[in-house]
Amino acid sequence: MNAIGTTLRRFLLEQHAANPLQKGLASAIDDMAQASRKIAYLVNRGSLGGLHGAVGQENIQGEEQKKLDAAANDVLIDAATWSDNWVGLASEEEDHAVSIRCTDASARWLSVFDPLDGSSTIDANGCVGTIFSILRCPESVSKPGNDDFCQSGTEQVAAGFMLYGPATVMVLTTGHGVDAFTLDNASGEYLLSHPDIQIPENASEFTINMSNRRYWSPVIQAYIDDCMHGRDGNRGRDMGMRYVGSMVADVYRIMLNGGIFLYPWDSRVPERPGKLRLLYEANPMAFILEQAGGRASTGNQRILEVKPTSLHQRCPVIVGSKNEVEHVEKRCKAAARAS
Ligand code: AHG
Ligand code: MN
Ligand code: MN
Repeated sequence: MNAIGTTLRRFLLEQHAANPLQKGLASAIDDMAQASRKIAYLVNRGSLGGLHGAVGQENIQGEEQKKLDAAANDVLIDAATWSDNWVGLASEEEDHAVSIRCTDASARWLSVFDPLDGSSTIDANGCVGTIFSILRCPESVSKPGNDDFCQSGTEQVAAGFMLYGPATVMVLTTGHGVDAFTLDNASGEYLLSHPDIQIPENASEFTINMSNRRYWSPVIQAYIDDCMHGRDGNRGRDMGMRYVGSMVADVYRIMLNGGIFLYPWDSRVPERPGKLRLLYEANPMAFILEQAGGRASTGNQRILEVKPTSLHQRCPVIVGSKNEVEHVEKRCKAAARAS
């Protein structure tokens, strides 16, 4: 195992020696890390950078775009465009997939990202992050379009997120466990700080936006009621509750402490399967959590096995400690059978 303090670059080279990574993958991951250093700087400048507030338009998701959403998106697009690792990218902030002209014919990577997650909290100095996923470009495709990105989560080659909190942390999987690196501002290097993260099997907290309770399905309402009733209710044990409103922060906390994060379907927009995006949010987080020994479900199936049919597809998200997610899944499946 790598020692605490190992640089990300050395870690990737050593990982390559133990479990050979695909050609160019280490360099592609490094592109993401490099971009995140710039985003961390922009986030860290706060309102001094002139990037607080809204752009004044909605993105393709129909959500208000913040200036920092747009700035982080530009940084990531720049990083992918001016590197020979990528043939295409898809972003939560872009209407369509973008193909990249690259001079290295052997480069086969597709970059998929949520440039700034949790951006509704940014003006209040909340924790935000970047989520990314790396896919293989289908053989014989040189200008990838939307359909080429519609790959199941099981096809991801790497995934990660950066959390811009009191410290900037990058959490990464290439399918061989999960490791986290903390950005050392003095050297500008990501240094290994949390090797081989294992999420506790049992949850000690739940994290959900409680204000949506009246819109949830009865099975989710009943489950969360049980969590709230704690040792006085059906399950006979107390759980804590935290909700930052930024998935990167909420998921990182439960990875370390044990817990469950839910953003289920709700009836505000009944035809929408959930709020979170399958390709930019659910799949990378599901890959990371499964690699850390956790579980990631829609309630009825493994998130990683959902077959995407469109780029900006949404998905219900129930992720975290294995035993707790399995418990919710059982209840959802029983409710589906009974209906
Ligand atoms: P984004 O900022 O990329 O649009 O994502 C926000 C997501 C996620 O980070 C968070 O868990 C959730 O939306 C919060 O939504 P609510 O404000 O509806 O709770
Ligand atoms: Mn997001
Ligand atoms: Mn976002």
